[in-house]
Order: sequence, then C-alpha cells, then structure tokens
Amino acid sequence: MTKKAFIFDLDGVIVDTAKYHFLAWQNLANSLGISFSSAQNEQLKGVSRIRSLEKILEWGNKTISKEEFTTLMAKKNEEYLNYIDTMDVSEILPDVPRILDFLLTKEQGVALGSASKNARIILDKVQLKDKFHAIVDGTNVSKAKPDPEVFLIGAEELKIQPKDCIVFEDSVAGIQAANIANMVSIGIGDPKILHEADYVFKDFTEIKEEFINQLVTTERN
Ligand code: BG6
Ligand code: MG
Repeated sequence: MTKKAFIFDLDGVIVDTAKYHFLAWQNLANSLGISFSSAQNEQLKGVSRIRSLEKILEWGNKTISKEEFTTLMAKKNEEYLNYIDTMDVSEILPDVPRILDFLLTKEQGVALGSASKNARIILDKVQLKDKFHAIVDGTNVSKAKPDPEVFLIGAEELKIQPKDCIVFEDSVAGIQAANIANMVSIGIGDPKILHEADYVFKDFTEIKEEFINQLVTTERN
C-alpha cells in the first residue's frame, strides 16, 4: 500500500481564524469607503495578503500608491495579530486532534499547506506544531492559491506523489489548487460553496475513521 500524505490548510480548517481575517479585511475596506460582503469574503479565503488587498481595491475601484498599499497591508495584519494574540488550544476546531492523531498512528504523512505568513505563530499558540512532518506556509511560496504551489511543495517535502495526497480546505481557491495538483480535495464547510471538491464535510466531527482508512487504501492514477 502506498503511503499517503494528508495536507491541511490552517485558517478555517484547523482553527477558526477565518473569522478574524474577515473582520480585519472588513474594517480595512470600510475605512476606505469600500463595502465588503461575506460573499466577497469567500473569494478572499485561501488567497494571499497581497492578492486580497488587490481584490478589495479592484472591487472599490480604487487606485493607491505603492507606499499606501504597503501601509494598508501592515495595518490589516496588525489588527489580525491583535485578534489572534489571545488564541489558545480551545480554538482548535472540533475533532481536528482526533483526525491528526489517527493519521499519525497510521504512519501517514501529515503536512500544513497554508497561504498565511502567520501560520507558525498560530500553530505555536494552539500547540499543534509537532503533529506536522512538514509545514509549508505563506513564507515559503511565491504563488497564491488557486496555484497549487503550496501543496506541491508539501508533497515534495514528504516525498509523496501529488496523486497520493489528500487536501483539507475551507476555501474555493484551495479546493481548486488541490484539484489542479491532481490531489484528492476535501472541503470543510458548505457544500454549495465548495461544490468543486471531491468530498465535503461540515466539519471534522463528520469524518469517520473508516473514511480515512478508505482514502489510505485507495490507489489513484
Ligand atoms: C489564508 C487565509 O489562509 O491566508 C486568507 O484564508 C489570508 O484569508 C491568507 O489572507 C494570508 O494570511 P496572512 O496571515 O499571511 O495575512
Ligand atoms: Mg482556509
């Protein structure tokens, strides 16, 4: 049986930080006189900080200088860091530790594949760093999801072929990235939003160990 790699997104999959990204972007957009809906927020999930600000400015039809752009990115991150400052293990989403531990017991590869440059800070806060054989985050990639770079680097670090990788994602961009990489894509969230995924679950409490066993034993081309 081929060993598999399970690649986890961070924000919105392992911890509920997606809500903090939303609040910080919404405040920033509003301060620029740009409205920001939760439907627009869906389009920013999984997307890098730079690309997110570019999109918000496009939606608001706003052009700003390079300096102002840098200042706004720093402002958004400062507010985001304030939100995550008090995070602890209680913010780990339900049953994430159960699935991580099950995979480790089964000696499968486990990696993080996140667009966030704050990923390591958050993993430290929720004390999950030692559950991952590889951590690939926004500091390791140059191309934002839906580009599959972040997941392909994860696969390479674990020395597992992309076809033998399974990705857990809460964002449309991330599901697309996994599909482009020829990995199994598992959406965590709303099936209507994540309809491009191979499977969708509301959260990890819905994922049974038999399902993981089936992913481990199924050979793909
Ligand atoms: C992704 C989030 O995981 O990371 C996005 O879904 C966020 O909302 C992106 O913009 C970059 O995160 P950070 O922490 O580097 O600004
Ligand atoms: Mg996410």
